[in-house]
Amino acid sequence: MSVTDSSDIASGDPNERPLRQHAWNDVLTADEDGNRLLPEHHVLVPLRLVTAPDEDARTQVESAFRSLERAYAYAPEGVLFAVGYSAAYFDRIGGKTAPIPAPRELTPMESPAFDTFDAVIHLASDHPAAVLEAEEALFGATGTPNGTGMEATLSGVFERADPRRTGFVGAGLPAEHTDVEGVPETIPEEAPSLMGFRAGFRGSQAPEDRITIREGPFEGGTTMHISSLNLQLDPWYGQDSHEQRVAKLFSPEHTEGGGIGTVGEKLGSTTGVADGAASRVEADARTRGVVGHAQKAARARDDDGTPPLLRRDFSTVDGDTPGVHFVSYQRSIDEFVRVRKAMTGRDIAGEGVGQRLNNGILQYVFVRRRGNYLVPPRSKRALPQP
Ligand code: HEM
Repeated sequence: MSVTDSSDIASGDPNERPLRQHAWNDVLTADEDGNRLLPEHHVLVPLRLVTAPDEDARTQVESAFRSLERAYAYAPEGVLFAVGYSAAYFDRIGGKTAPIPAPRELTPMESPAFDTFDAVIHLASDHPAAVLEAEEALFGATGTPNGTGMEATLSGVFERADPRRTGFVGAGLPAEHTDVEGVPETIPEEAPSLMGFRAGFRGSQAPEDRITIREGPFEGGTTMHISSLNLQLDPWYGQDSHEQRVAKLFSPEHTEGGGIGTVGEKLGSTTGVADGAASRVEADARTRGVVGHAQKAARARDDDGTPPLLRRDFSTVDGDTPGVHFVSYQRSIDEFVRVRKAMTGRDIAGEGVGQRLNNGILQYVFVRRRGNYLVPPRSKRALPQP
């Protein structure tokens, strides 16, 4: 549960941080089934470059990040963060082909806005005060985050861009937002996400090694895709029964044999979709008229069964609208595209399910924005050059 007493915010040492910006797993806590729990509070801070990315700027940016690492521990009680750079950044600094593709539409059902700013910082902590203060410190709005001095800020190199995004994940947090229109009162008290179920089981997340770039100038880095999705929760909770929600999110088989519990608590550390349900997608569409989201997505696992995506997504009520900021880390954006295609399930539309109807959760999820980022290894996180 939330730790809200700001006197508990731990300070840190840059030398304790690993080489990979995305290496958070070692310090994340786990639930009783061994599934890693993300920090509860998240901010995505968009940045626009306002100066030439020269050595002075690079030194300044690195110094700001190191100051943050002194102010906050490498832990959910401190602040975890990763900075990524867009194709727009690499185009702007010139040179050869950008090492990250510009975002594009990934389904025939969307016309999203695209992130066209230069960089984004994903900040996360169990303390809401820590993520906010860390963000302010980066722009000089506070000089002593968690009582520690900043040696530099991002100001003069980066300015803030739009849209800044925020959110939360963890048991009990979604139910605190039923005052927002479109967030039904019936959301389970203990639900960790606005759709009401646990996600990110150990068995369905890529290991950090699987998402790490293996060679080239950004060896040790990764990529990040951010999709911002709106959710239609009134029909999800109002028209569908618990069993229908389970069938559409997991698979129709998950409604059998006593079910998975209110929020998926009976699942342990795996949904099991890769052991059968993933290969029954077409059959379930034809014979049961419904197919689950997880069962479709698991079709895109590697041949040896490893999931290619490490999902670090969170719920949001930004703009007083329920949604998800779907932050996904993977070795290359192609892999995200491959999984998204499996999730979209065009191959089964018209084969017992519709393009959206009963085709996983597509009826409730609307893509508003997409962005792609290269997340360099920590040693190159300040204004990288290919
Ligand atoms: C509102 C948005 C979404 C919700 C509520 C949601 C929820 C879930 C849930 C409950 C599971 C099963 C538990 C788990 O394995 O973690 C799951 C699995 C998964 N989802 Fe989503 N998801 C959403 C969007 C997406 C998107 C946009 C993608 C991108 C392609 C995605 C990819 C996956 C993958 C790869 C799996 C694991 C499949 C496997 O076991 O290999 N999800 N999701």
